[in-house]
Amino acid sequence: MNIYPPIEQRFSPFEFYSLMRKNNPVAFDEGNGQWGLYRYNDIEKILKDPIKFSSKFGPFQVPQEFQENLNRPSLLNTDPPYHRKLRSIVDTLFVPIEISKLEPHIENIANDLIDNIIEKGNTTMDLVTDFAYPLPATVIAELLGVPSEDRDTFRQWADNIVSLEITSNIDIDSIRKADKTVSDMDIYFSKLIEKKKKIPTNDLISHIISAKVEGHSLTEKEIFSFCSLLLNAGHVTTVNLIGNLVFSLLENPQEFKRLQENQDSLIKAAIEETLRYRSPVQFLFRIANADVTLFEGREEKGVQKQKIYKGQGITLFLGSANHDESIFTDPERFDITRKNLRHLGFGTGIHFCLGAALARLEGQIALRIILKRFKSLEFNFDNSDRQDLYKKVSPLKSSFLLGLSHLPLRFQPLNS
Ligand code: HEM
Repeated sequence: MNIYPPIEQRFSPFEFYSLMRKNNPVAFDEGNGQWGLYRYNDIEKILKDPIKFSSKFGPFQVPQEFQENLNRPSLLNTDPPYHRKLRSIVDTLFVPIEISKLEPHIENIANDLIDNIIEKGNTTMDLVTDFAYPLPATVIAELLGVPSEDRDTFRQWADNIVSLEITSNIDIDSIRKADKTVSDMDIYFSKLIEKKKKIPTNDLISHIISAKVEGHSLTEKEIFSFCSLLLNAGHVTTVNLIGNLVFSLLENPQEFKRLQENQDSLIKAAIEETLRYRSPVQFLFRIANADVTLFEGREEKGVQKQKIYKGQGITLFLGSANHDESIFTDPERFDITRKNLRHLGFGTGIHFCLGAALARLEGQIALRIILKRFKSLEFNFDNSDRQDLYKKVSPLKSSFLLGLSHLPLRFQPLNS
């Protein structure tokens, strides 16, 4: 059985997930030997059990010759106790209190980007290219200490990596492209790291270079992995949070109106509802460290208990968990006044997103500035037929990220 949403539903896989939650909550894909899980409680349980379920996944279909680059250990795919040690290098830098100090600076970056859009004299923009992409890319580049002028290169790299097709069948071209990108990033970071070793600067890369784990510095490859993880994870996800947020508000004008009328109380809630409704990260991988049986003792009508064997890969569809009707009332509704928002958009357990506070702050600032600087905002295409809406936008070419590569908008600036 194919466990992945069909490509046509890439930007809105809700119907597929709903059917899987109901009929095949634990499904097996014979094509690639992966299990797929769709229900909130099952997924949460696995994420909270790093002993039985390892994060040492790597893209599972990668042939041997690409393993070195694409299965390289990083914070994201190591297990305890090493994971704890790696995470402690950066944990305290990303706590909300530290991140909140960045607020005025991020606000300046967001305002400068809107100035650039307005100064062009047009009343149209591509929200993704002109705003949603450069905002988090600039912030993470500055935090790391890499030149933010190189952000077009980062975008190309990130596109090459996120477009790695993860489906029932192997797609060797996308694997080759991702592999080459990792090598290019290594060359880029090795030059930068050499410079920073000679003259340390006050940034994340210098901090990682000087860090010690059990009395040892990280190896060069470990430093490369850390840097590329932070650079990529630090922007590809937040770009989609901002794009998905604005799309969802324009798709649901009554929610947009409520937000405009109650900005102070609803901005944070609109971010959380977007993380639930259109979760930028759609799935995560784990590998069973032991034989496990799911649904034991709670078999339901039509649902058999399932045995997952040691070494088998499991794909956890966060995007489906976040629409689970047993957890969220009326889950297919985008509702920014929703009360229960315990979504899994940032994962849970020991690998809970390191950058959650940063992503939330960037999302809130982006929304606040958009509301402040534009009198009106609408799709720059005919959206009279809601059924047709998804055909008018360009979904991101990615199996595991949900987002848009472009979002054409029409606007009126507030001071015109
Ligand atoms: C809306 C934006 C974001 C979303 C939806 C998101 C989502 C996630 C998710 C679901 C995980 C869990 C991975 C797992 O359990 O295997 C994760 C981990 C991680 N995220 Fe984020 N992320 C976002 C923004 C960021 C930012 C801005 C950073 C920059 C620092 C970041 C860095 C990381 C890192 C380093 C990890 C690995 C943590 C670990 O394994 O201990 N993320 N993220």
